[in-house]
Amino acid sequence: MSDTITIRRPDDWHVHLRDGEVLQGVAQFTARQFARAIVMPNLASPVTSVDAAAAYRERIMAAIPAGVEFTPLMTCYLTDHTDPDELERGHREGVFTAAKLYPANATTNSAHGVSDVANIRDALERMAAIGMPLCVHGEVTDAEIDVFDREKVFIDRVLEPLLRELPGLKVIFEHITTEDAVRFVDGAGDNVGATITPQHLHINRNAMLVGGIRPHAYCLPVAKRERHRLALRKAATSGSAKYFLGTDSAPHAREAKESACGCAGIFNAPYALESYLQVFDEEGAIDRFEGFASENGPRFYGLPLNEARITLDRSGVEVPGEIDAGGTAIVPFHAGETLRWTLRL
Ligand code: DOR
Ligand code: ZN
Repeated sequence: MSDTITIRRPDDWHVHLRDGEVLQGVAQFTARQFARAIVMPNLASPVTSVDAAAAYRERIMAAIPAGVEFTPLMTCYLTDHTDPDELERGHREGVFTAAKLYPANATTNSAHGVSDVANIRDALERMAAIGMPLCVHGEVTDAEIDVFDREKVFIDRVLEPLLRELPGLKVIFEHITTEDAVRFVDGAGDNVGATITPQHLHINRNAMLVGGIRPHAYCLPVAKRERHRLALRKAATSGSAKYFLGTDSAPHAREAKESACGCAGIFNAPYALESYLQVFDEEGAIDRFEGFASENGPRFYGLPLNEARITLDRSGVEVPGEIDAGGTAIVPFHAGETLRWTLRL
């Protein structure tokens, strides 16, 4: 059993970097681990235009420590009023790598999201025509649908019909959490892929609810039953090119999570690779880690693979109980645990 692994530098195909002081505090963690990242557009004032995305990209670059190579890949936040011409211009100018579909009120800062995919039909047709990828938060928001069923119902009511109507649309089913999503992605064409977070590989819903309510294990889509976690571990480590790394790292201040109405989101950026590699190690699939972390994502997006290499070793790392992000205290995923692998810098 080798004590080190060297792979192409990975990318994070789904991250929330926020803005302002928190951006200043958290960007370094993603840039330290990843060469590129798909940056989610759900700021308090969502990123809905080419100009806003270009300006946000500048603020991100200004938050990256000197000497660290990192490329933010920007996304457009879709609303009921998205202009297909703006999307196409942003994509052609290299500002928008993809667009993000948030069903209205599905999660953090999604109030301006899409109330019905019929409302963005023109935008989606244009995206299919120009080969622009669609990142999807796959949950319905109907009050009568149980929160644990919202991903499955989204597949049936929205995703399946959408792909039947636009069979060429490139879709990334983000942060999948169920065996139903795995079955759907496995059965779809090569134009459908999925990201998987570290938390959904490590925890099931007990982590949130047994022995007390644990707000730092709460994110959306919410962690599901154990059989779903096992299906996700199987998919991630299967070697299928449809699955790739997307942390969904989503920092919130400690007090915003430890609250009567705690925010959804797990801040996993600081030790994301260590966390993922532990799963591949436990599954006896270390040889498939590079595909998941560094190859499947760029291939799906049609981007070049990174040439730089990184090494992780088995020295182990203790995850701190709290991280100071530009003056905001944030509790990271795995707080207080020791992870077996360590990223060498
Ligand atoms: O847990 C989550 N947090 N899920 C999301 O979809 C959004 C994210 C956030 O921005 O906090
Ligand atoms: Zn997200």
